[in-house]
Amino acid sequence: MLPHEQNEQLTRTNAGTLMGDLFRRYWIPALHDWEVAERDGPPVRLQLLGEKLVAFRDSDGRLGVIDEFCAHRGVSLWFGRNEECGLRCPYHGWKYDVDGRCVDLPSEAEQTGMRKRIKLKSYPTIERGGVVWVYMGPPELKPAPPELEWAMVPAERRFLSKRLQECNYLQAMEGGIDSSHVSFLHSGELNTDPLFKGSKANRYNLEDRMPVFEVVDFEGGLLIGARRKAGEGRYYWRITPWIMPWFTIIPPRAGHPIGAHAWVPIDDERCWAWSINYHPKRALTESEVSAMKAGAGIHVKYVPGTFVPLANKSNDYLIDRALQKKGRTYSGVEGIAMQDASLQESMGPIQDRSRENLCSTDNGIILTRKKLLKAAKDNREGKPVPGLDPASQRVRSCAIELPVSQPYREGAKHGLFAPPDTEPVSV
Ligand code: FES
Ligand SMILES: [Fe+2]
Repeated sequence: MLPHEQNEQLTRTNAGTLMGDLFRRYWIPALHDWEVAERDGPPVRLQLLGEKLVAFRDSDGRLGVIDEFCAHRGVSLWFGRNEECGLRCPYHGWKYDVDGRCVDLPSEAEQTGMRKRIKLKSYPTIERGGVVWVYMGPPELKPAPPELEWAMVPAERRFLSKRLQECNYLQAMEGGIDSSHVSFLHSGELNTDPLFKGSKANRYNLEDRMPVFEVVDFEGGLLIGARRKAGEGRYYWRITPWIMPWFTIIPPRAGHPIGAHAWVPIDDERCWAWSINYHPKRALTESEVSAMKAGAGIHVKYVPGTFVPLANKSNDYLIDRALQKKGRTYSGVEGIAMQDASLQESMGPIQDRSRENLCSTDNGIILTRKKLLKAAKDNREGKPVPGLDPASQRVRSCAIELPVSQPYREGAKHGLFAPPDTEPVSV
């Protein structure tokens, strides 16, 4: 269990909070690049870490992420006219460029000098790996662009989706580093989901439901190793890197693409669950991509035209008690992503961790919380924080069988810190 005060520290992310200030040190995945592809196209509402913003691409192709609300009388610039290198408020015509500067103030004489004093908050952006990233921290501390492997592979080796999750980022992320629930919650999918089935290790997941966790520090975050019994004298290791502050990489199965997530706070009670599949060495196949588009693996089907999952809180996630009884799905909810999301949302918008009772398979979670809190406090004291250097982000997940006597940090090193363009190490 976690004292109330620490739960508050870990889950609150607005500006000025402990975690909010830490998260603002990193590049944040914000939008699919296609959401703002069009010059002078419709602006897009965007909320991150509790801040309401609007994104738009101007006539010259530059991308702006600025305060959502007009400096005049607070109209949402989502209604704005994106024209001639700026976003114009439709109420009285004030116009802003991508840096938030007011470039036209037609309701006031220019001689008053008022226009020059008006500036909206704006944040720098970069586009990489199919994603628009935003940096919301102190300008002088802006890190180099991220080099997570999924963001660096050629586009045909990657598939990205994002879905709205209606709970705090932390309980979503804690699912991402908890390899033990796979033996229960996802047991029905291991041998049926097109992006999971066919791995001989699926048997180990199903047979050994008490994995032993070994968590190791690395420059970018933590390596969360979970071992299960394999054959005589051997362990099956699944090693999930957690890269500061919210990136997780799922160990692969057989020759399937690697899965990864980013758990990004929208506000304290909602997050974006980014779900990525990538293969470091080859293009994704047509059948893989069509399965992903259809919501298989870690992806979902959507309410058309939204990022809201079709199975959601308002329809009880379409739970099917007959399938639950039969064991075809362990919880009755279909699909890996919504199995996770339904249970995480069921904890309430912010889980009350002062009432939890953690067991030994929760070791990864305990150490992740610790590392986040330490980094946040170090940040406050002006000390360095991990995971900002792109080199520290170059890690990938791995699934491997090793002799019982061999520690994974040696035995799996070649799989975890592999050069780009190489096959994943997988069972
Ligand atoms: S509220 Fe935007 S111009 Fe008046
Ligand atoms: Fe899961």
